[in-house]
Amino acid sequence: MTVLNKIKIAGIGSYVPERIMTNFDFEKIVDTSDEWITTRTGIKKRHFASESEASSDFAIKASLIALKDAKMDPKDIDLVIVGTATPDMLFPSTACIVASALGCVNATAFDISAGCSGFVFSLSIAVQYLRTGHFKNALIIGTEALSKFLDFSNRETSVLFGDGAGAMVLRNIETDTNDDDAIVALITGSDGSGGNKLLLPAGGSRMPASIQTVKNHLHYVHMEGKEIFKFAVRISDTIVDTLLKNTNLTIESIDHYLFHQANIRILDSAVKRLNIPWEKVIVTIDEYGNTSSAAIPMALSISSSSGRIKKNDLILIAVFGAGLTWGGAILRWNKDE
Ligand code: ACO
Repeated sequence: MTVLNKIKIAGIGSYVPERIMTNFDFEKIVDTSDEWITTRTGIKKRHFASESEASSDFAIKASLIALKDAKMDPKDIDLVIVGTATPDMLFPSTACIVASALGCVNATAFDISAGCSGFVFSLSIAVQYLRTGHFKNALIIGTEALSKFLDFSNRETSVLFGDGAGAMVLRNIETDTNDDDAIVALITGSDGSGGNKLLLPAGGSRMPASIQTVKNHLHYVHMEGKEIFKFAVRISDTIVDTLLKNTNLTIESIDHYLFHQANIRILDSAVKRLNIPWEKVIVTIDEYGNTSSAAIPMALSISSSSGRIKKNDLILIAVFGAGLTWGGAILRWNKDE
């Protein structure tokens, strides 16, 4: 019988670019108000890349913190996975750019395209490699420079997103160590029939860049907000129910709930239906907006370094994104403090 390795969270890190864009700054460029954005989304501000910055820059900075936290030499990393909807370019992958910059010279590196679910998808892939012992150490990253793909003449999409990155170092540990397994449960899913509700239409092989695509704003995020909202509420409930059912855990036994940071009203709906105490819910959307695949590792990093998440806490994660995709996990935070 194959013995599967347990997983250890060895390090965590995050980074956001310096430039801050508040709701009041948006009032100056589109027909909106701080009051509308705050009440409809929960967002107060977000960080935006400078002209010269790209997704890999944030990923590298977040990863340096995570590697230091894990006390790990980049040469010991076997696998680098980047979840991103906003890669530096179509190819090479952002993961190859990041691995090279970090000196992860022994790593296999590739990107995952799963919209805001990119980090959880990356986690699910890394876990398979580590459990089987195929690889020992993995660096998984969620990074986004969404500001580069926002149509600043469209108030419905431009106010929602922010830039940043989060990174996590995982390693496999022998089955007989004292640490519990970090991965208590993990689920992923997708439904491409909803892909036309959240997309970046041009710049791929279906619609290569042309004067017309630029004129028609087709290199920007397009979204049917109401449809995505309904999907998000429904799928968030399904993810929580499935994770708890698969593990026989109860709402009370989870220490922290980390939902995708897309809209406070989506969180609110799940929290009310499931009767989750608000003090168990991690919220970062007010400070950072929706940073897509970066949102989960950023929130974990912030909550871990502030001392809010403690060793052996159980964290339930639920995300959804372009694709459409969704994913969930229950993590046992076995990282050493
Ligand atoms: N400022 C002021 N008014 C606005 C703004 C704005 N920024 N945006 C929209 N409005 C207006 C609309 O034009 C509309 O006006 P009208 O009534 O005169 O037509 C009114 O506000 C209400 O618009 P709705 O679309 O009904 O607003 P809603 O309450 O649905 O909120 C929102 C819109 C915030 C986009 C919401 O639908 C939402 O959050 N959807 C989910 C988005 C999401 O989760 N995206 C992330 C997906 S994950 C990924 O992979 C990237």
